[in-house]
Amino acid sequence: MIPKDTIDDIFQAARIEEVVGDFVHLKKRGVNLLGNCPFHDEKTPSFTVSPTKGIYKCFGCGEGGNSVNFIMAHEHFTYPEALRYLANKFGIEVEGEEVTPEMAQEQSERESMYVVASYAQQHFTDTLHQSNEGKAIGLSYFKERGFSQETIEKFKLGYAIDSFDAFTKVATDNGYKTSFLVNSGLTKDKNGKQYDGYRGRVIFPIHNLSGRPIGFGGRTLKTDKKVPKYVNSPQNVVYDKSKVLYGLFTAKKAIIQKDNCYLVEGYTDVISMFQAGVENVVSSSGTSLTTQQIALISRFTKNITILFDGDVAGIKASFRGIDMILEQGMNVKVVLFPDGEDPDSFAKKSVPGELEDFITDNAKDFIVFKTDLLYAETEGDPIKKAQLIHDIVDSITLIPDEISRSVYLKECSRLLDIEESVLISELNKGIRKKQYDSRKKGSVAPEQVSVVPFQQKKSVPNATDEIEDQEQNIVRLLLTFGNETIPVDVDGEMQDVAVAAFLVYRLQQDDLTMINSVCREIIAEFMRALEDEKILEQTHFLNHLSPEIAALTIDLVTSKYELHDWESKLIYVETEEHKLKRAVEGALHSYLEKRVRIMWHQNQEKLKANLSDSSEVMLLMKEQKRLTDLKRKLSASMGRIVLN
Ligand code: CTP
Ligand code: MN
Repeated sequence: MIPKDTIDDIFQAARIEEVVGDFVHLKKRGVNLLGNCPFHDEKTPSFTVSPTKGIYKCFGCGEGGNSVNFIMAHEHFTYPEALRYLANKFGIEVEGEEVTPEMAQEQSERESMYVVASYAQQHFTDTLHQSNEGKAIGLSYFKERGFSQETIEKFKLGYAIDSFDAFTKVATDNGYKTSFLVNSGLTKDKNGKQYDGYRGRVIFPIHNLSGRPIGFGGRTLKTDKKVPKYVNSPQNVVYDKSKVLYGLFTAKKAIIQKDNCYLVEGYTDVISMFQAGVENVVSSSGTSLTTQQIALISRFTKNITILFDGDVAGIKASFRGIDMILEQGMNVKVVLFPDGEDPDSFAKKSVPGELEDFITDNAKDFIVFKTDLLYAETEGDPIKKAQLIHDIVDSITLIPDEISRSVYLKECSRLLDIEESVLISELNKGIRKKQYDSRKKGSVAPEQVSVVPFQQKKSVPNATDEIEDQEQNIVRLLLTFGNETIPVDVDGEMQDVAVAAFLVYRLQQDDLTMINSVCREIIAEFMRALEDEKILEQTHFLNHLSPEIAALTIDLVTSKYELHDWESKLIYVETEEHKLKRAVEGALHSYLEKRVRIMWHQNQEKLKANLSDSSEVMLLMKEQKRLTDLKRKLSASMGRIVLN
């Protein structure tokens, strides 16, 4: 845990314009700064930074927040990671956290492994560019494959000298411990004799999300079939292959912008596509995709497009893995490359833009693709067709979203030429089984699809939504004008009262708490401060430790209307105090009136339901009387406000 004081210091120091300015080019526009939104693709800037409020808000996509929110959203950091990042940037010391000796040990081992990997990466890169062997063999190999100088540097490609232990010797001479070298696979140990793990290979360094090298793929240049084509890092404290995607560090920005991630097989596919201008591409490095890898992608986008080379057996083998992606609620498309081509070879042959066009033109929804492919193979055989139906419906069952499932059922009913109702009942069978299984495990399962999909549910006007809107409006007034005063009749005498005091006491007086828990929390904080005769500032909530409070505040004080009319509104407030009074009282009264009316009805229903329980009836009747009185009082005072 980072101490609260330190967190406060970080919030204080982290000036929004400097934090955002590291990632977005900002231009001054009035009191605010404006730039192109890093969270969605846009041509005209609608991303606004307000230094006075310490927040950012995009009017195109709605993203908004304070400095910490920005770093969390942009870098995909957790809350503590974002705080540490900012502490580091603004030179704030985060006090040493309590660590057990085991934690310290593991921490230092991790750190050592990172350091070793960094060293090796730099060493291999230097070898590629500077040594004679590196240039003659490694660099010319990459050039021959069509990788440009820029690409080679971007992916920090390297070369390991073809000698028994040249690397291990240099590394040891430079003070790197043998145990770390062995754990990272850079050095192999055979009966106490150490030799280089990657000798004579070109090197593809693998980076983690923040760009630190954590592992290596080394490709042989020999055509000898007995030599393994790739040597990969073994599992260790910094490299867990089930949690790593090759290229994610270089791809993440493009993945967010395109809102799609291309998945390919190998290192060279990633690199060639990147060079061809398609940057949102990662590889699971030859192994089948894991749930952790899918979760990693889903931090950046819900859309995955899998690029297959033409080998049908390989494609069918991957169907299971793709089901896993569906199960995590992602949208999956697939692209099949022409026979004998993979993304790497296709990218190399194509002119600029061609690869991107090919992918867009040929991307097919996975379920449709699977249906088509398997249907072609049934060749009219009814047994095979029945099997296929089970197979497809099994995939559809995994999709968490009910509407998507219905759409797929419709589509597959058409493709397979089979009654939709048959598919629906098959699907519901699967779902019932899942519900049964998950009840046993205590987790949640999807809902069954109703037999007539898309049947409109009877719509009940949602009173709660409306009330919550009104609550937010009151909180908005509180946050925006809390410190302004309005003339209020106090025991027959007009006095200037702060808007915050007026609203909070008025709510307290009728003993009504808000439905929305975040609003309730904000009101409660105002109340506690008022008891100490303090009125909380907007910035207190903008930089609130609770992310929900900060998010709501930002939302409320940056509605489009708010920022555009900011200046004029201030003048309007100062000069026409009584208009503010009217706005505040109006908002409060229409809220209270509605809230009480609904509570009255709810209480009435409860009464009807509990007639047999006499003590309960007493209580409910008492509440009913209180609410009736309140209702009356409110409609009387409402009249006064309207006439005022
Ligand atoms: N792979 C591996 N070990 C092997 C073969 C393959 O780890 N013996 C992994 C590598 O991550 C490789 C991916 O599977 O990138 C795809 O294999 P392949 O298509 O054979 O390699 P490419 O990267 O395409 O290499 P190249 O284009 O040079 O054939
Ligand atoms: Mn290949």
